[in-house]
Amino acid sequence: MSATLIDGKEIGKKVRGEVRDAVAKMKADNDGYTPGLATVLVGDDVASSTYVRMKHRACKAAGINSYGHIMPANSTQEEVLAMVAKLNADPDVHGILVQLPLPDQVDEETILSAIDLEKDVDGFHPVNIGRLAMKDRDPLFVPCTPAGCMRLLEEAGIETSGAEAVIVGRSNIVGLPMAMLLQKANATVTVCHSRTKDLDAHLKRADIVVAAIGWAEMIKGASLKPGCTVIDVGINRKDDETRKRGYRLVGDVEFDSAVEVSGAITPVPGGVGPMTIAMLMQNTFHAAEIALAKK
Ligand code: GUN
Repeated sequence: MSATLIDGKEIGKKVRGEVRDAVAKMKADNDGYTPGLATVLVGDDVASSTYVRMKHRACKAAGINSYGHIMPANSTQEEVLAMVAKLNADPDVHGILVQLPLPDQVDEETILSAIDLEKDVDGFHPVNIGRLAMKDRDPLFVPCTPAGCMRLLEEAGIETSGAEAVIVGRSNIVGLPMAMLLQKANATVTVCHSRTKDLDAHLKRADIVVAAIGWAEMIKGASLKPGCTVIDVGINRKDDETRKRGYRLVGDVEFDSAVEVSGAITPVPGGVGPMTIAMLMQNTFHAAEIALAKK
């Protein structure tokens, strides 16, 4: 058996198209009122710079204004807080994204807590996370990568209600919010991590596996329940001399064996990756809607 591929490139394109259309309508109906996203990058980490650049490019394609702020790696917490305060007060900025990780001298929780709740397009503000965790409450924004995973499941027609979902990884950015979202979607959720004693025993009964551990090809097809759905959040480099750049990207799941056992699977690249930025565009549009309603 060979699994159905869940095409994040296509689904991401669809989401970005929806946002582009909604932005165009918002502008037309409101005298050119345009959603705006501000990014804050502290330091010059190559991967973070690339991600931020991709976010600005996506804004442009969606008709969203974007404002990039690059701060030196030795910026103090007060300096970063002052930047957040300035963006909170700027009426042209509807969404604020502080790229993580931050340098050691800057406390992540302090910075994320300082972002205006209504501009928290990453959904990392403790109040948004708290609402995500609670029954019958909804955050203003859902973190982009987990929101993208949920959209992939929805587009692929995967039933979450009553499903056994196993999440491998417990990061604040993916594993934790993903667990909360699947629970809200009525799945029975197990979160596995580096101290889990028998990962295979959990995987074997999982209808939905979300892999977000950052360990190249750690989960093999033999560990999966036949017919399950695999959402692979991992993006890892694997040496490959046949490639010009000397490596290729692989997920946390060994694709070639998993595709033979699962019923549906996201490829890497082209699965979850394109969804993160698409959902950021959606969140930024939503932030602009919130601000517009208050005008
Ligand atoms: N670093 C890795 N992923 C993310 C993300 O989704 N948002 C932010 N702000 N930083 C990240």
